[in-house]
Amino acid sequence: MDVEFTLHPAAAPGTLEAELDREFVSGRGRTGTLRSRYPLAFTSDESSAFLVGRRDDEALACLAGRHFDWQTPERRWRGVMIGLVYTTPAARGTGLGSRMLRTALETFTRQGDEFAVLWSRIEGFYEACGFRRADCGTFGRWTREDGATGAPPGEPLQDVSRPALQALEDLRRSQSRCTLLRPLSGWETCPIPADEVRLLRVGPAMSPHAYALFGVAAGTRIVYELIGEAAQCATLWPALAEGAQEVLVNERLGSPTHRWLAANAPVAWHPQDLALWAPLNAQACNVDFGAWYLPWLDRL
Ligand SMILES: CC(C)(COP(=O)(O)OP(=O)(O)OC[C@H]1O[C@@H](n2cnc3c(N)ncnc32)[C@H](O)[C@@H]1OP(=O)(O)O)[C@@H](O)C(=O)NCCC(=O)NCCS
Repeated sequence: MDVEFTLHPAAAPGTLEAELDREFVSGRGRTGTLRSRYPLAFTSDESSAFLVGRRDDEALACLAGRHFDWQTPERRWRGVMIGLVYTTPAARGTGLGSRMLRTALETFTRQGDEFAVLWSRIEGFYEACGFRRADCGTFGRWTREDGATGAPPGEPLQDVSRPALQALEDLRRSQSRCTLLRPLSGWETCPIPADEVRLLRVGPAMSPHAYALFGVAAGTRIVYELIGEAAQCATLWPALAEGAQEVLVNERLGSPTHRWLAANAPVAWHPQDLALWAPLNAQACNVDFGAWYLPWLDRL
């Protein structure tokens, strides 16, 4: 019997969820569960689902797809991000993963998605299924030389009220020409490998001028976004660096924040080469995906 693919909202069925946690979290020395870290991938509404490949009732492969809205100055697009692509070890290398990805693209096209995006370092696998690499991300690293460390600044993001999160989301949207419309529950994401996500804010909670959103993993601070007038970086950056062993920065190449940090902070920058895109309709075939940047916090 051949493998059959079906969509499951809210969960990877059976033992798959535990296998995914082993593959992507505990097996890589990380803590927590995918469900607690990426709540949007496990929501019970229609915005996300797992595609599962089964033979004779045995689940052999799965991936997660999360639909999202992407606003450009011209119009709103509907995209789908794909993640947690997984084949059980015994079934690997038989073409199952590639078939699942092709099935996913057909399924999401039928559901009205206009493009798909994912992030991976694996070479060739996704390209063979119709994705192409284009990434305007840049990755910065600053390392402390004197060894002194201390507690991270700001407050845990989970302590921030929903109205205050909405104010941050409003500021975020107002600062970008192209932006992913992040639902408020998207602010609950805790990307691997962070143990917690913290917020460092400038200005009143209900009308912030600027903020930094960053994950903490031991002495490392991983900046997911630094939003506001670039000049506010002069306040945010020293606070982020104080007491850190290292600060990693995810930014769009040439963004105001990137330009400010490149000019004013001793951060070493490297291009990112992680994003892979697949156009799913005729209009998306004309998009320059190399100009679109999806924030780290929103990725699956
Ligand atoms: C990646 C994965 C889903 C591929 O599934 P699969 O069912 O083996 O896929 P296929 O049989 O269609 O193999 C496709 C090709 O990708 C290659 N490939 C798979 N994993 C690879 C890796 N980590 N690095 C480089 N190439 C890889 C395979 O060798 C194969 O190449 P070939 O066609 O030239 O022989 C599977 O290996 C897996 O579950 N890995 C662990 C989880 C993971 O890393 N997921 C991807 C996260 S981005």
